Amino acid sequence: MRLFIAIELPDELKVELARLRAALCGARWVPAGQIHLTLAFLGEVDQATTTELTTQLADIHTDAFRLSLAGIGCFPDLRRPRVLWIGVKAEPKLLRLAKIIQQTLLAAGISLEERPFSPHITLARLKLPAARELGAFLDRHGRKTFQPFLVREFTLFQSRLSRDGAEHIPVRSFPLINGG
Ligand code: 2AM
Repeated sequence: MRLFIAIELPDELKVELARLRAALCGARWVPAGQIHLTLAFLGEVDQATTTELTTQLADIHTDAFRLSLAGIGCFPDLRRPRVLWIGVKAEPKLLRLAKIIQQTLLAAGISLEERPFSPHITLARLKLPAARELGAFLDRHGRKTFQPFLVREFTLFQSRLSRDGAEHIPVRSFPLINGG
């Protein structure tokens, strides 16, 4: 199975983020229901490892936290924008959760990307001519603010690829402490 671990966003926030799509036509926007904050991308993992891993992820006991979104930007840079994202404030409890998950994955024998965790929520993938419109889009919407939200759990997802794009299927969610 192709797996990743992510934080799901409240439905209202996903709807609000998806509304931005009207302001930048021609980009490949992430479907509203699929917008998420990736904590780790695992790639292909066999069934036995997945079963063991879920037991270990259930053993993570770290705090729930409030998360704020902060600013819209793009990867790799404004000259060649490929990915449009919304930033996430690097809240210490978020970084701690990402680190514990990384350690858990390494302990389960899953190798991870060398890139350091850079919290962001992918909104769209860009090609010309949408990329050319990005400057104007960022001038208008780049400083938009959103309501902070409480992160009470994280979720292991399966990503099933098809000709119509990826389908994200929640495998299991893991509660954080005092998330209620
Ligand atoms: P993203 O968060 O920057 O969009 C599911 O594919 C999630 O895993 C996506 O949100 C994606 O990135 C993230 N991801 C990280 N590395 C990936 C990779 N090599 N291939 C596909 N997705 C990856």
